[in-house]
Amino acid sequence: MSRSDIFILMIIIPLTFFQSVRGKNCVCDLKNSDPAFPEHKLTKVETTSRQCIERITSERITELDRLLLGLQQRIKQLEENVVVLEKEDDTNLYGAVSLRIIELEFAEIQDLLKKLNETIGNYHHLNAQAATQLEDMKDTMGELEEFDNMQMIKKDRENQRVKRGLEECKNKLKATLPPPTVLPGRCGLGQMVSVAGPRTSSLTAYSTSYSYGAWGRDVKPARGDENKYWLVVLSNSNVYGHFVRQYGTLSTLLLGIGPKDTYISGSNPTTNTIQGSNMVVYANALYYNCYNTYSVCQFNMTTRAVSTVALPSDTGYNNKFPFAHLGTTYSYTDMDFTTDESGVYVIYATTSNFGNVIITKVETSNPPVLGQTWTTSLHKKTATNTFMVCGVLYATRYLDKETEQIFYSYDTETKKERFDLKINIKKMKTNIEYLNYDPRDRLLYIYSDAYILTYELVFQ
Ligand SMILES: *[C@@H]1O[C@H](CO)[C@@H](O)[C@H](O)[C@H]1NC(C)=O
Ligand SMILES: *[C@@H]1O[C@H](CO)[C@@H](O)[C@H](O)[C@H]1NC(C)=O
Repeated sequence: MSRSDIFILMIIIPLTFFQSVRGKNCVCDLKNSDPAFPEHKLTKVETTSRQCIERITSERITELDRLLLGLQQRIKQLEENVVVLEKEDDTNLYGAVSLRIIELEFAEIQDLLKKLNETIGNYHHLNAQAATQLEDMKDTMGELEEFDNMQMIKKDRENQRVKRGLEECKNKLKATLPPPTVLPGRCGLGQMVSVAGPRTSSLTAYSTSYSYGAWGRDVKPARGDENKYWLVVLSNSNVYGHFVRQYGTLSTLLLGIGPKDTYISGSNPTTNTIQGSNMVVYANALYYNCYNTYSVCQFNMTTRAVSTVALPSDTGYNNKFPFAHLGTTYSYTDMDFTTDESGVYVIYATTSNFGNVIITKVETSNPPVLGQTWTTSLHKKTATNTFMVCGVLYATRYLDKETEQIFYSYDTETKKERFDLKINIKKMKTNIEYLNYDPRDRLLYIYSDAYILTYELVFQ
């Protein structure tokens, strides 16, 4: 309490003074004629309100949002698959298999609905509880105010307000780093706050044969190819691949029905075949690190022609600057191709940049051309993968078997980088060999020890 508060209290307290003269000393007896202030009641109200606030957090509200989003996505998927089923109705086996998938999806939707119902149930419960507590607090506060001859509570509240103001002011001063993401005008997404999922997870038709691979959808599909999925496994030594497998839908990919393989070459590895797992498909062309060079390969899946463009000659390749963590090196992941709303990028490291990450835009013309380049101070071997959203590069690191963490971001617009992000990804398997963002559905596509998974990015 400030000096002036004490002064006010002293003059407001209704006091009775007894003055007497005992010898030469002057003595004052002080008696407070009011009952003692029931401070314990005030403390109790404060505790209850703090508990109330702790229980109703934005965390819980996000949980509800997540469930709703998940549900929305599953229902959309189900609708699409029902349409496929209707078309396939003439071939019995195929239809029966699709039906089984729809059954499975339906079960998952029911499961989600159950969770949603539980969450909402919890909410009602919390709300009711909070309402009762608020009523109680109101009553107590009313009682307390009657005692408030001394204006204790009023002053206390004022003090609290001033303190809060001071804290806010301090925090504002401290928060010199702005959030790393996009201005709303750029692609309408807020700050990334969490990663939910996995939304889908499955082995492929290859089962556990290949621990290195990549998958996803064409980020800029031709008309009619919107639902197609591609899958590439590194079938030689976990390093080399030489063909792209495509499926008409997610269901057929999960079941391994009707794949179409497009070969880059008959042998593996050889000139211009695939090296390392971090590739992408854009406008029916596969972008990847060409075998045994520091070049970018563009494989046109229509014509089967390969065009290349070389990165700087001191670019790491053949396992010089791979993704890694203390326990593992992700072999031959020197180049990471990523996609965002604006197209294709290649992430790599050079000797002249001390093994730190460089971002280069890949213009998807034929042949491909290197575009704008950004230099970062993220050491490539400390990251386990990267992806881009709306011109912001994010990097992950390995925390433990269950958790991968998005810890780093680089905004290509402001050139600001941050190392203090702490957005966790709940893993199913220990290692993530491939990770990319699909701007069409805003999901992360992951290949993790032979499993293919999707995760949902949650934005503020
Ligand atoms: C939702 O939860 C309530 C209890 O919280 C339960 O009585 C009800 O049957 C549930 N509804 C569904 C559709 O699961
Ligand atoms: C691939 O080939 C087709 C047919 O020639 C062409 O239309 C398309 O532009 C090519 N794609 C790329 C990325 O070069």
